[in-house]
Amino acid sequence: MSLVLPPTRENMTRAADRLRGGGLVAFATETVYGLGANALDPQAVAGIFELKGRPLFDPLIVHVAGIEPARQLSRAWSELAEKLAKKFWPGPLTLVLPRQEIVPDLVTAGLPNVALRWPSHPVAQQLLTMAGCPIAAPSANRFASISPTSAADVAMELRDPDLWILDGGSCQHGLESTVISLVNERPVVLRLGSVAVEELEAELGPIAVANRSVNESELQSGLASPGHLSRHYSPRTPLCWSTEFGSGEEVHAGERVGLLCFGSVEIPNAHQFAAIENLSPHGDPREAATRLYAALRQLDHAKLDRIVAWPLPSVGLGRAINDRLQRASH
Ligand code: TXA
Ligand code: MG
Repeated sequence: MSLVLPPTRENMTRAADRLRGGGLVAFATETVYGLGANALDPQAVAGIFELKGRPLFDPLIVHVAGIEPARQLSRAWSELAEKLAKKFWPGPLTLVLPRQEIVPDLVTAGLPNVALRWPSHPVAQQLLTMAGCPIAAPSANRFASISPTSAADVAMELRDPDLWILDGGSCQHGLESTVISLVNERPVVLRLGSVAVEELEAELGPIAVANRSVNESELQSGLASPGHLSRHYSPRTPLCWSTEFGSGEEVHAGERVGLLCFGSVEIPNAHQFAAIENLSPHGDPREAATRLYAALRQLDHAKLDRIVAWPLPSVGLGRAINDRLQRASH
C-alpha cells in the first residue's frame, strides 16, 4: 500500500523535496486528489502517465501558486484570462492558453496550449510554494476510472507501494475543475466541472460548451479534448444512465441492481434495489457533487450486476454531474 502522510510541516518538506527530485507525490486539492510531478521535468511527468496507465495524447493540467507564475507559463496571457483568474482563483477553474516554450511537450501532449490552475486547498498551495515549481497533476486514478476524493481512494486506485499521498481530508467540491479554453477569440468550456457554466456566463455573457462525446481516434488526431472521451470516470460495474427521469429502472428477478438518485424522490420499487445511494436527499447539487465519486465507489463495491443512475435537474452543477454520469455509463 502507498504511504499516506498527514500534512505536517516535516512531511510537506519531504514531499516537496521528492517532487523537486523528479519523484511523484499525490496530494489533496479542493476538487479531487491529484497525482503530481514537477511540470518542467519531462522524465518526472512521464512517471505520471506510466502510473496512471494514461495515453500520451491526453494532456495534463499544470498547477501553479498564483497568477504571476501562470502568466510566466503562457505566451499570451489575455485580459480575459486576468479577469477569470481574479474572479475564480484560487479555485476549481482551469484556463487553457497558448503555452510558453519551457512547458514540455509531454505535459501538453504536443498541443500549442497549456491548461493552468491555481488550486485553493491549503495542502496543494503549500506543496506548490515549498516545491517552488509548477506541478503537473491529473486526477490520481487509473485512466478512465473514478476520480479519488480521499487519500484512501488514491491508495486503492493506484496501488503503488512507493507512492506518497499527502492527506488533506475529503475534497470540498468532489468534482473536477471546469476547463475553459481562451485560445480562440471566443471562450469555450471544454469540460463541465465545479464552476457552473452560469457562474462563468455571469462574467462573460453566453459561452459555448464543447460537450459532444469523442472517441479515441478523434483524440489522436488532436482535434478534440480528452475530458470528452465518451467513456470516462467509470466504475467497473455496468452503469445505465437514462436521460428521462425514472426510466430504465426495471429490476429483473435474480438481478442485483443499485440505484443512484438525487433529491426527495419517490422510488416506487425501492425494495427491488440491492443498494440505493441518494446523492443529496434534500436536493442540493453541491452536496451531490461532493458525494458523487464516493457513492459510485460504494456501489461499485456492492457486488452488483448493474447500477442505474437517474439524472439531476440539468442546471448549474447538476449539468456537470449528469455529464460525468453519462460518460461513466457503458
Ligand atoms: O480538478 C481538476 O482539474 C483535477 C485536480 C487534480 O486539479 N485534475 C484533473 O486532471 O481532473 P485530469 O488530467 O484528470 O483532467 C484534465 C482535463 C482533461 O480533460 C484534459 O484533456 C484537459 O484537462 N486538458 C489538459 N490540458 C489541456 C490542453 N492543453 N488543452 C485542452 N485540454 C486540456
Ligand atoms: Mg481525470
